[in-house]
Amino acid sequence: MSGAVSCEILGVVGARPNFMKIAPIMAAFSSLAARPIATKLVHTGQHYDPSMSDSFFEQLGIPRPDVNLEVGSGSHAVQTADIMRAFEPVLDRERPKAVLVVGDVNSTIACALVAAKKGVKVIHVEAGLRSYDRGMPEEINRVLTDQISDLLYTTEKSALDNLKREGIDPARVHFVGNVMIDTLRHNLERAVPAERVLGARPAGGYAVVTLHRPANVDDPAILGSLLRTLAAIAERLPVVFPMHPRTRAAAERFGLLGLLERPGIRLLAPLSYLEMLGLNREAKVVLTDSGGLQEETTALGVPCITLRENTERPITMTEGTNTLTGPDTAKIMACFEDIMASGGKTGRIPEYWDGRAAERIADHLRGWLDRLP
Ligand code: UD1
Repeated sequence: MSGAVSCEILGVVGARPNFMKIAPIMAAFSSLAARPIATKLVHTGQHYDPSMSDSFFEQLGIPRPDVNLEVGSGSHAVQTADIMRAFEPVLDRERPKAVLVVGDVNSTIACALVAAKKGVKVIHVEAGLRSYDRGMPEEINRVLTDQISDLLYTTEKSALDNLKREGIDPARVHFVGNVMIDTLRHNLERAVPAERVLGARPAGGYAVVTLHRPANVDDPAILGSLLRTLAAIAERLPVVFPMHPRTRAAAERFGLLGLLERPGIRLLAPLSYLEMLGLNREAKVVLTDSGGLQEETTALGVPCITLRENTERPITMTEGTNTLTGPDTAKIMACFEDIMASGGKTGRIPEYWDGRAAERIADHLRGWLDRLP
């Protein structure tokens, strides 16, 4: 590699759940009192629809990416390889002291791998989460990214045990809290009221549903069963369902969309961050297979039914409002009826989910960077 160092940190984002994580980090780096951390941002283009990407940059005040790799969709191999090929020349040109990746999407592992192989330090935010389910593409991304990271920032204490089990030196691991919850706290007051998102707020409340995991949406039998369960829930409580493009495409392909065409179900396009936050804050219950929503509902004190058999975020169950049901109709309905009857788990806010995680990262990282040779 040749040329001058143009920034200290090269940050990477690619997919929707990355954007709310990078937003407070970029802000904390640029406003650090000690000395700002010079940062450039790369968007891999893994998510490219305005509703899945641009709206988050606008609402969350994320600086425009310095580079967009524009890789788009593809199989895991194609998408990961395309990101790697496109990221390498950017890394050569920018020569940062470290690459910072967040979360567990394909963009995370792809850029971490390019950096590690070039001897550029890797920083992973949201390290150490494990579902122990290697059938999830994100689990593979998590395990591999952590193995090649030099600095690992964690959101909950269970992460350190996971990392120790995989032989990672605890000296590299720092518990800082949850940057996604920073974004939630900073934006609560700006959230769009449910009444404005929906036109009118249903008198008896409503459920919010999100669904997009391959395990739930790529199999017609499982997706069909889940959509029939949602139809049953809609008999009891109005259901608002902002549909991920992957899920809409699968439902159309399998001829299942008709199951959702009924008065109790409101299908929406993917929502902006502030609309989704407003909707979730006022929901009676959220049913989801998302990782981030399990955490956001815990922070909001809203009961969450997770349509998965496992979670990489166990603190949302032990301390928060989350219950795992998997895709099983009887379990989902039992949990739903319990929430309707009793209001569900109230939970408490986990340690360091206080809106200051990005500040902790910036403070720590400044010293770490200054100590690098
Ligand atoms: C990705 C992440 C997942 C994350 C999710 C949030 C991986 C392995 N998965 O899954 O962890 O929870 O993002 O959304 O990285 N599509 C569009 N417009 C877009 C982006 C995607 O229409 O802007 C459609 C395409 O048909 C694409 C499909 O959605 O093939 C899936 O997109 P992809 O990025 O492969 O994975 P996600 O399911 O979004």
